[in-house]
Amino acid sequence: MATAEAESETHTHLMQAVVLKQYGGEDNLLIKSIPRPKITADQVLIRVHAASVNPIDWKIRQGMLKWIIPEQLPATLGFDVAGEIAEVGYSAKQRGWNVGDAVIAFSDKTFGGGYAEYLAVDSKVVVVKPETCSFEEAAGIPLAATTAWKALVKLGQLHAGDDVLINGASGGVGSYAVQIAKALGANVTAVCSADNHELVRELGADETIDYHATRFTDIGRTFDIVFDAVSKSSFHECRRILTPEGHYIATLPSVESVGMTMISKFQKQSCHVVLARPDGDILRSLAALANEGKLRTVLDSVFPLNEVAAAHRKSEGGHVVGKVVLNVSKDLANEQSPSEP
Ligand SMILES: NC(=O)c1ccc[n+]([C@@H]2O[C@H](COP(=O)([O-])OP(=O)(O)OC[C@H]3O[C@@H](n4cnc5c(N)ncnc54)[C@H](OP(=O)(O)O)[C@@H]3O)[C@@H](O)[C@H]2O)c1
Repeated sequence: MATAEAESETHTHLMQAVVLKQYGGEDNLLIKSIPRPKITADQVLIRVHAASVNPIDWKIRQGMLKWIIPEQLPATLGFDVAGEIAEVGYSAKQRGWNVGDAVIAFSDKTFGGGYAEYLAVDSKVVVVKPETCSFEEAAGIPLAATTAWKALVKLGQLHAGDDVLINGASGGVGSYAVQIAKALGANVTAVCSADNHELVRELGADETIDYHATRFTDIGRTFDIVFDAVSKSSFHECRRILTPEGHYIATLPSVESVGMTMISKFQKQSCHVVLARPDGDILRSLAALANEGKLRTVLDSVFPLNEVAAAHRKSEGGHVVGKVVLNVSKDLANEQSPSEP
């Protein structure tokens, strides 16, 4: 396809998108008509059917990360999308992508941009949508499951037969982590509220601990990997439940975890803070697990795009079971949305 042709085509079109004009409450998320993104030779334009909500979205919205993500507003949030390719750049075409391909992607944009009808992304971060998932289920996978994979496989060096404890096992990252650990042959202990024990056992957990009743750091047995997907513990507390060469991995940096990540390089027990980034190879591995029936998305709730504020409130509540997803393909033109006057 001629790139110039694709560019002039996209330039003339508008799309509906959620635009964050200023940091603050969820009422700052406004549906607006903005130009469709233009693609470069390496990119594809995805017609987004579903996008998922991650805690980083509302942390960005609140301005919690404005000192470390220097990007000007207005911007569109959303790192996870599932949809169909609408346009293909020249080099992306050489890599085998075609209009109409059903795909998922972990956006490589600073703020994501996925809460929109169209998203332009580098074709390297795009992967064929697993056939076992609906678009809504598939949209849950990229950021949260990449985090879980990177924590367990890259940082935790998970091997079949390892004993793995996952804290926050019912949330977005945790629910994928349980399944990935099980698929790779680990013995999985899942820590979550008792109400979710049946669910995490269905996902593959061998043992469960109710964090309201028992501190998992006090259970008197050891694990090769402790993955605290919700970062409610510290490396210091978890050392006693790690094997002599065990790995502790958190999802949020703290003064202790950053310091111990450096210091523990010289010790047998290691401390890590995972940082998820778009990674086509990891996403392909995750899609393969989904296609094998070993990874699925637990849908907490699905909101139409014009109820993005409610979706953020749900995520901010801190008790999501699985993933909160936005359905973007609903006919926005017929919806009364919180748009700007
Ligand atoms: N570093 C990175 O690259 C990266 C990537 C992804 C996520 N993160 C961060 O990781 C954290 C988790 O992300 P997520 O998407 O999994 O969030 P989430 O889906 O919103 O997590 C919700 C889950 O947390 C559980 N939970 C709450 N308090 C808990 C506690 N004290 N002990 C155990 N579980 C508890 C809840 O279970 P109950 O309802 O039973 O309480 C709920 O199932 C967030 O802070 C996020 O920002 C970091």
